[in-house]
Amino acid sequence: CGIVGYVGSKQAQGVVIEGLRRLEYRGYDSAGVALVHDGAIASDKKSGKLANLEKAIAEHPLPPSTTGIGHTRWATHGAPTDRNAHPHLGQAQRLALVHNGIIENFAEIRAQLEAEGHELLSETDTEVAAHLIERELDKGVDLTAAMQAACRQMEGAFTLVAIDAQDPDRVVAARLNSPLVVGLGEGENFLGSDVAAFIEHTRDALELGQAQVVTLTRDGVSVTSFDGQPAEGTPFHVDWDLSAAEKDGHDWFMRKEIFEQPSAVANSLLGRRNASGRLQLDEVRLSDEELRDIDKVIVIACGTSFYAGMVAKYAIEHWCRIPVEVELASEFRYRDPILTRETLVVAISQSGETADTLQAIRHARTQRSKVLAICNSNGSTIPRESDAVIYTHAGPEIGVASTKGFLTQLVACYLLGLYLAQVKGTRYNDEIALVMDQLEQMPAHIETVLGQSERVYELAREFVGTPSVLFLGRHAGYPVALEGALKLKELAYIHAEGFAAGELKHGPIALVDDGLPIWCVVPPRGRDQLHEKMISGIQEVRARGARTICLAEEGDTAIEPYADELIRLPKVPVLLQPLVSAVPLQLFACELATLMGHDVDMPRNLAKSVTVE
Ligand code: G6P
Repeated sequence: CGIVGYVGSKQAQGVVIEGLRRLEYRGYDSAGVALVHDGAIASDKKSGKLANLEKAIAEHPLPPSTTGIGHTRWATHGAPTDRNAHPHLGQAQRLALVHNGIIENFAEIRAQLEAEGHELLSETDTEVAAHLIERELDKGVDLTAAMQAACRQMEGAFTLVAIDAQDPDRVVAARLNSPLVVGLGEGENFLGSDVAAFIEHTRDALELGQAQVVTLTRDGVSVTSFDGQPAEGTPFHVDWDLSAAEKDGHDWFMRKEIFEQPSAVANSLLGRRNASGRLQLDEVRLSDEELRDIDKVIVIACGTSFYAGMVAKYAIEHWCRIPVEVELASEFRYRDPILTRETLVVAISQSGETADTLQAIRHARTQRSKVLAICNSNGSTIPRESDAVIYTHAGPEIGVASTKGFLTQLVACYLLGLYLAQVKGTRYNDEIALVMDQLEQMPAHIETVLGQSERVYELAREFVGTPSVLFLGRHAGYPVALEGALKLKELAYIHAEGFAAGELKHGPIALVDDGLPIWCVVPPRGRDQLHEKMISGIQEVRARGARTICLAEEGDTAIEPYADELIRLPKVPVLLQPLVSAVPLQLFACELATLMGHDVDMPRNLAKSVTVE
C-alpha cells in the first residue's frame, strides 16, 4: 500500500492526491483521503484506481484544509470495496487513520472493542486500529500519546498515519516492520511510504527506526519510541529528482524503464574498480577475513529478484567454487535451513521492503549468518537490517513489473561473485578484470538489443490472442526463460511457462501443440555443448508443431534452420547473456499487454512491494 501525510500551508488535498499518484504503483485496489476541517474530519474513498477518487472529489469537493492523509491500497483484509478502502474513522469520527501492513491480534482487539459497544463498519484490521487510537484519545491525551498507547497494544507489521479533528495542525504516524519516511520541508512536513510521495516538494528526508512514533507539525518533527521515550531518525538526502519519476514521453513507466537499462546498468557498474583495477565494493562492510571464511551462499528473494538469484548461483559457483543455494524467501525459514556463521545469505530485493524477504533475513541473523542485501532503494528496511549491501543504483523503478531492477540485480550478483573470487583467490586478477571489461561493454550491447524493438513489437502484434506461450532456456538462460514467462503472466494475464530446455522432454512437452509460440533463449556457442543440446530441444518442439522464436547470438548460423523467427543477440559470454536475452522478452510482454488494452504499469492484483507475508 502507499501512504501519504501532510501538514503545512498548502492545500493538503492536492499534495496528498499528488503523493498518492506517485505511490499508486504500491497498490491500486482503492484510494482515499482525509482532511481536518473546522473541528471535523472530511474524507472520501473509492474502490479501484486513484482516478475514481479524483472523479468523486471533482464532483463533491472536500473543504479546504492544510492537514491531510491519504492511502492507496493493495487489499489484504477484506475485499477492495469502497467500505474497506482507507481512511478509516474512529467511533466518534474524531480520528482518521490510514494503514499499511497487518495487525495480527486484531480479532482480539476487535472483540474487546465490540464488547465495549464499538460498532465496526468494515472487515479491516485498520478500522480496529482507528477505534483503538480514538479510544485512547478519549482518555484526554494528545494524538501522539494516543498513538503510542495504541501501538503498545498491537502486534504485527504496520505503518499507521492518523489525524485528529480536534488537533488541526498535527499528523502522527507509527511504524513497525513496515515502510515510512518523513519529508522535511520549510514550514511544512510530509510522510510517505517512500520518498516518491514528496520528492517534488523536498529532497531532505528522515529515515525512521522500528517501533517508532513520529509527530509532524508545520514547524517540526519529533520522534519517540512506542513507550514515549525520545528517539531520533536518520536524515538523508534523496539523490534523484522528480524527472526520474516521470514517464518522459513514453506511454508507460515500464517502457521507459526498459529503455533506461543501458544507463541503469552503467550506473550499477560505476565506481566499482579502484585505481589499480581491483574490484572495490565500498558498501560491502564485511572484512576480507569474514568473506574468506564463507563456505556456502544462500540467495533468498521473491518474484523477479528470485530469478536474478538463480543467475547468481551459476556465476558464483563457477567463479568462487562454493556451493550456492537459491530459495524463495517465503519458503526459506519454514524448512529449517542449515545456517552457520560461515554462511553468507544474500537477500535480493529491488524495493528492500518485501516482507517475505525481510523475515527470511531476520531468521538468518538469529542463526548468526552474515546477510548481504542487493537492493535498489537506499535506506529501505532490508539493507538496514543486513550486515552488508550492494546498491544497484538503477534509479526509481515505478512500473510494477521489474525490468531495470532485474538487470541491475544481475549486475550486482556478478559483482558479488567476482568480489568473492578476488578475496578468496579462486580466480586470477586478470580473469576478473576481463569479466569486468565485458560487463562494462554491456550497456552498449543492451542498446543494440533495444534497437530491435520494432521487430519484437511486430511479433507481439502477431501473437495477440494466443492463449499460451512457453519459454525455454538452459544454464543462465533458464532463469531468463522463467522471467520471460513471469513478465507475460504479470502483464498480459495469459498462460506462460518457462522450462529448462532439457527438462521439457520429461513432461511439459505434452503441452506442445500446433502453432504454440515458444521463445527459445539459445546459449552462445562454446565448448560445453550447451548450444547443441539447446538445438536438440528446439527440434523436439518444432517436430510437434511449435512456432519457435529464437534469441541467438550474432553469427550463430546453426540455429537458422530451426528458428521460425530469429532475434539476434550480441556475442557475450554465457554467464552474462541474461543481461541481453531478458530485454526482448520484456519488450514482448510490454507490447503484447499494451495491445490487449491492459494497464502495463499497474497490472491487476499486483503491487510493487508486498509488505505483508
Ligand atoms: C512483488 C512485485 C514483483 C517483485 C517481487 C519482489 O511481488 O510485484 O515484481 O519481483 O515483489 O520484490 P522485491 O522488491 O523484493 O524485489
